[in-house]
Amino acid sequence: MRLYVTGGNGFVGSNIVKVALERYNAAVFSTVHSRLPEGAPDLEYAPVNMVDPQQVLNSVRTFQPNAIIHAAILNNFELMYQDRKLAWQAYVDSTRFLVRAANEVGAKIILVSSDWVFDGTQVDADEFTPPNPINLYGVLKLVAETVVTETAENGAVARVSAVNGVHWFQPNSPLTQNVGLGNMIPAVVNALQRGQRFSVWEGDINMHATPGLASECAEMMLRIIQRDCRGIFHCCCGQRVGRMELAKAAAKIFGLDAGLLQTGPPDWSGMVGVPVPCDTSMSARYTAEQLDYTLPDINRILQIYHRQLETGRLETQTG
Ligand SMILES: NC(=O)c1ccc[n+]([C@@H]2O[C@H](COP(=O)([O-])OP(=O)(O)OC[C@H]3O[C@@H](n4cnc5c(N)ncnc54)[C@H](OP(=O)(O)O)[C@@H]3O)[C@@H](O)[C@H]2O)c1
Repeated sequence: MRLYVTGGNGFVGSNIVKVALERYNAAVFSTVHSRLPEGAPDLEYAPVNMVDPQQVLNSVRTFQPNAIIHAAILNNFELMYQDRKLAWQAYVDSTRFLVRAANEVGAKIILVSSDWVFDGTQVDADEFTPPNPINLYGVLKLVAETVVTETAENGAVARVSAVNGVHWFQPNSPLTQNVGLGNMIPAVVNALQRGQRFSVWEGDINMHATPGLASECAEMMLRIIQRDCRGIFHCCCGQRVGRMELAKAAAKIFGLDAGLLQTGPPDWSGMVGVPVPCDTSMSARYTAEQLDYTLPDINRILQIYHRQLETGRLETQTG
């Protein structure tokens, strides 16, 4: 397999690269933007700005992938709301450029999307539930999904949700709680390991989701490629959880003091005035069937994450 990844040095991207290299023996190319990936000697990379159509096309033509995973993202809500054109370019135009390039070289393309395409009033939205985003990020993700489903000759959408896990190329970057449920587990573990109290936010934020472990999300994406699946897929775990339930489960699996957990108001820094979907839990049963994959529950995810931290090595459910 020849896999071209955008944002391979980001959090989710680093897991895609790691799983592709170590479990699928793939030749992998990643775009780089403002930082170089550290710690992946077998990875090919070059600077590519995803909003530059010529850079995208040239790099795809040079590498000649048979699959592309678009994981890069402008990860800055404040900037997205201030500069809507830039946001549109980063989410929608970049996807269009990559689809064109994929169609030209005959590659499959997977767009990494999000549970935030849903409005947060539905429990267990499945792969066929019509989305109804309530903020700019969700709208842009949905438009980008539509670009893939309508114009890619061989396309798939991989919606991830509340992603937790190891950032393989920046293992020491601080992962903090946010109004989504991503990073919640590392944030809780870091605080409790230091004996610090941890305030689990309560409010008009993302209170429930079906979290994903980044390496398991990556494993599911690689199976989408290997089995040549097309359409929309939910790459998350098989259990809906709330914030406090997730924090307590993390404390238990890591053997930490759950008595240090308390509730408190959210910090809205960088997100002031942005509506956030409340319950973005997704059903991934259809995806699991298509991929012949067993959806892990929260405890299983936590156990795998615990072992990854202990050993510093990639481990997935299947080896
Ligand atoms: N994390 C979650 O909980 C979560 C939840 C739902 C969906 N997702 C989706 O998962 C995907 C990855 O998210 P993440 O959490 O891994 O984000 P991340 O860690 O912020 O990574 C983003 C990546 O995009 C790259 N990038 C930014 N601007 C670029 C540009 N103009 N051209 C090329 N590359 C550019 C960044 O490179 P530099 O760092 O070098 O600038 C970085 O490698 C996104 O599609 C996101 O919507 C994530």
